Amino acid sequence: MDLLKQKVEADGVVIDEKILKVDGFLNHQIDAKLMHSVGQTFYEQFKETGITKILTIEASGIAPAIMAAMHFDVPCLFAKKAKPSTLTKEAYQADIHSFTKNTTSTVIVAKEFLGAHDRVLIIDDFLANGDASLGLNEIVQQAQATTVGVGIVVEKSFQPGRERLEQAGLKVSSLCKVASLSGNKVTFVGEEV
Ligand code: G4P
Repeated sequence: MDLLKQKVEADGVVIDEKILKVDGFLNHQIDAKLMHSVGQTFYEQFKETGITKILTIEASGIAPAIMAAMHFDVPCLFAKKAKPSTLTKEAYQADIHSFTKNTTSTVIVAKEFLGAHDRVLIIDDFLANGDASLGLNEIVQQAQATTVGVGIVVEKSFQPGRERLEQAGLKVSSLCKVASLSGNKVTFVGEEV
């Protein structure tokens, strides 16, 4: 997606060889128009697949996920990282380890919002090691629903996320693929020298 690539080039800040900061349009301040286009692109890619629900994880997955949900005209469901006191009914849960933060959190989704009839598109902001998407897929499996695919805004292709998701049988669609963050600059897949 050219617009997204241009935004990463213009506003992305390389923190180190593994982390790209995109607080200006995705992780802190959100570019709503760009997210609208992101949602539309996921819709174009998956519109023939009978998606009934978009599933993401709080917080940064919500912006692209809700825009996708708007285009598909289906609900956007997000996994919560802490059990809220208002959640009184049964919930699915999965443990997700974050290599970036070196923490493990249990994420939950209320059973009433996901069922065996659902065809789910998982959406997340970043794909690094794939743990978040694998955890969400585990929740989809617990619900006996179907994961149709995984839509990612920024894939770091030098990390094993895609390989791990594909090994799990998941179709992965990334809108922007970063090949490297070496030399304090972003190099996209297909533009390596
Ligand atoms: P994984 O899900 O692919 O395994 O990734 P990882 O454990 O490394 O990611 C943990 C968190 O860090 C996730 O957000 C993920 O979106 C984010 N992240 C991973 N790599 C980068 C990066 O290069 N840049 C930025 N900006 N974020 C990255 P999270 O902890 O769920 O945070 P949030 O959604 O509440 O913002």
